[in-house]
Amino acid sequence: METTLKTPAHAVTTEDDITAEVLRRIEGTPEPRRRRIMLALVRHLHAFVKEVDLTEAEWFQGIQFLTDTGHMCNDIRQEFILLSDTLGVSMVVDLLNHRKPEGATESTVFGPFHRDGAPELPAGGNMAPHDATGMPTIVSGRVLDLTGRPIGGAVLDVWQADTTGLYDSQYADTSELHMRGKYRTDQDGRFLIRTSRPVAYQIPSDGPVGKMLKATNRHSWRPAHIHFVVSADGYEPVTTHIFDSIDPYLVSDAVVAVKDSLICRFVRHDTTDGATDRFGMTPPFCKAEFDFVLKPARA
Ligand code: BEZ
Ligand code: FE
Repeated sequence: METTLKTPAHAVTTEDDITAEVLRRIEGTPEPRRRRIMLALVRHLHAFVKEVDLTEAEWFQGIQFLTDTGHMCNDIRQEFILLSDTLGVSMVVDLLNHRKPEGATESTVFGPFHRDGAPELPAGGNMAPHDATGMPTIVSGRVLDLTGRPIGGAVLDVWQADTTGLYDSQYADTSELHMRGKYRTDQDGRFLIRTSRPVAYQIPSDGPVGKMLKATNRHSWRPAHIHFVVSADGYEPVTTHIFDSIDPYLVSDAVVAVKDSLICRFVRHDTTDGATDRFGMTPPFCKAEFDFVLKPARA
């Protein structure tokens, strides 16, 4: 007896059929934002696989890479964020989410080394008291609103790597907070930070992200910088850095996070001046000046 094979309603015979079928199944996602994200994710993921004509071995290598990335994560190491940072995804998200009006301080990556509980320090307080080999440095400036008016009582949460290029959380004993401080502006919006001149350092490269950088002929250096979260009541906080203007890695930052407006001159002083009297700093030392401009909080 002759039988006719009927084609099912959604037969998948080509790779494009598979894409269409998965998209069709996701169409019913009730929450609209989730639906949009999932549809785009599947469309782009399938397009990527088709564009590079992915082999099974490469597909498995990708799975293994993501597995290793997960295994590398713990309380103090977040390899997925490092992956996002080095692929430039973190900075794209930053740009999309923090469009600033003209004049407002631009944001950049948060990075994995912030810690809560930095000590509150007075104006001129030293956040690098144990950084024996660092170049003593004063960073001063003001926190202003978009019209140039000073913001008193703004808080600057500041952190940086020490002069060996490591954050306190990268040492075996992570119990002590070092190279961190919280400063508050005075009524004229002024702040004064005593620290060490920042140095260029390598991001953690002993895991899958390090392997990826090596395999793609990239280095793991970040240009010398100091991290800030600047916040004040009634204003949108800004997560940002200031970068040392003479650093050769400004043009090739491993996490693509340099913005021109955040580059700052650290001026070396080889003779005594007011800082010597006020802080007992003996030359050579450095001074840097930077003003932060905050935009009003969204209503
Ligand atoms: C940092 O500047 O602390 C950082 C940012 C992104 C990845 C790794 C480190
Ligand atoms: Fe950093």
